[in-house]
Amino acid sequence: MFWEKEIETASRAELRRLQLTRLKRTLKQAAQSPAYGKAFKTHRVFPDRIKSLDDIRRLPFTTKEDLRKHFPYGFVAVPREKLVRVHSSSGTTGRATAVFHTSKDLAAWANLIARCMYMAGVRRGDVFQNIVGYGLFTGGLGFHYGAELLGALTIPAGAGNSKRQISLMRDFGTTVFHIIPSYALHLWKVFGEMNLDPKKDTCLRIALIGAEPHSDATRQRIEEMYGVSAFNSYGLSEMNGPGVAFECPEKSGMHFWEDDFYVEVIDSKTLKALPDGEEGELVYTTLNREAMPLIRYRSKDLAAIFSEPCRCGRTHRRISRIKGRSDDMFILKGVNIFPLQIDTVLMNVAEVGTNYQVVLERENFEDRMIVKVEVRPELFKGDLRQLDNLRRRVTESLKSELLVTPKVELVEPDSLPKSEGKAVRVVDRREM
Ligand code: COA
Ligand code: AMP
Ligand code: ZN
Repeated sequence: MFWEKEIETASRAELRRLQLTRLKRTLKQAAQSPAYGKAFKTHRVFPDRIKSLDDIRRLPFTTKEDLRKHFPYGFVAVPREKLVRVHSSSGTTGRATAVFHTSKDLAAWANLIARCMYMAGVRRGDVFQNIVGYGLFTGGLGFHYGAELLGALTIPAGAGNSKRQISLMRDFGTTVFHIIPSYALHLWKVFGEMNLDPKKDTCLRIALIGAEPHSDATRQRIEEMYGVSAFNSYGLSEMNGPGVAFECPEKSGMHFWEDDFYVEVIDSKTLKALPDGEEGELVYTTLNREAMPLIRYRSKDLAAIFSEPCRCGRTHRRISRIKGRSDDMFILKGVNIFPLQIDTVLMNVAEVGTNYQVVLERENFEDRMIVKVEVRPELFKGDLRQLDNLRRRVTESLKSELLVTPKVELVEPDSLPKSEGKAVRVVDRREM
């Protein structure tokens, strides 16, 4: 049942004691980084004066903007020789953030992933196919090392190349796969095109799905399509990546691991703490990280905490599905996109006018981003070759910034709806 029974079923009092000890240690560690060293002085934070977990509310928040301001090494709290890995999210236009790890951090992360996978029923002897992006994305290497630690035979398949994914599943007898839910729907269509049925033609039994918002209906659909049991997996790069919260077999909320993360829910406008059960922004403090401890990190993810005991016996509380974001970031094919990235790319192209619109669609199991761009009137002369070159150039610039390929449509000046005030430029028509 349990990967680490003692910690997974520790009493609430034991957990809180452990959290306090680790919080104190974390604050001392964080003070070693230039960014927190300075912030603690400005806000008169004295780690020694933290006596209870509630004292955490006296500490300042950390935001993505702080991480960007101190990019890349400002939050590192150990000597550089101790760093062994970096993960980074988002594109290049000054929006990137970086998270560093020591070997001890990586071992702790792998352990959390193994704990999640074990909870979902993965065991030694399983064949695990990891169908998400490797490289800087955290889902690839994160799950990879967790699965190996658990003892599953691990296939580092990576994202894309659908037919090959299916051959790998069949050749090696894959039993468990980790996949982005929208891609699971697409891959099922490819099975059909190959005249295969995953229920009959594979040994799949468990799907670990996450990295983007999806509904319970989508989960059930994936379960029916593949004949598997599917589990919601949640995390964010700033908190390592996956392994923050995960569904147990009860599938009623995701347990978040309270030995490694202190989680608060706040009202994102007033910044006041909200009680369990109320929906707000999730705020995280790492409790077990050396290289880059983060204090009260504002995730912008909206969810509620459930504190009722779970029938599975684990005492770590649960969060609801992620209900949305308090900023304008959206996720396409498992990749995070900030509208400002699109704006920056487009506004750097001389031929592009001032108005554009982004439409997100899910059609025939395919997720798409259509970027409609008004061209400056003096250029809209109907020279098709010139327009096609421009379209290609804009597509490539967007792809290299966003890491997904948009469908760019050039349109006549003044043809897109004008929005009053702050432009609402992203229309999301996808059904989750
Ligand atoms: N995961 C895995 N593969 C995906 C995918 C997804 N979310 N979305 C699309 N693909 C597949 C496509 O089906 C296609 O393969 P196929 O033609 O053999 O069927 C291939 O990847 C390229 O897709 P395409 O949509 O043409 O390219 P793109 O340039 O828009 O996107 C991806 C490129 C899919 C590689 C990129 O979006 C990616 O790496 N996504 C995964 C991100 C991830 O793993 N996030 C998890 C972080 S924890
Ligand atoms: P990244 O930092 O690239 O790993 O992206 C993290 C973000 O992806 C989170 O802050 C969430 O917004 C989103 N995310 C990850 N997992 C899930 C999930 N299971 N459900 C909904 N959103 C998710
Ligand atoms: Zn449970």
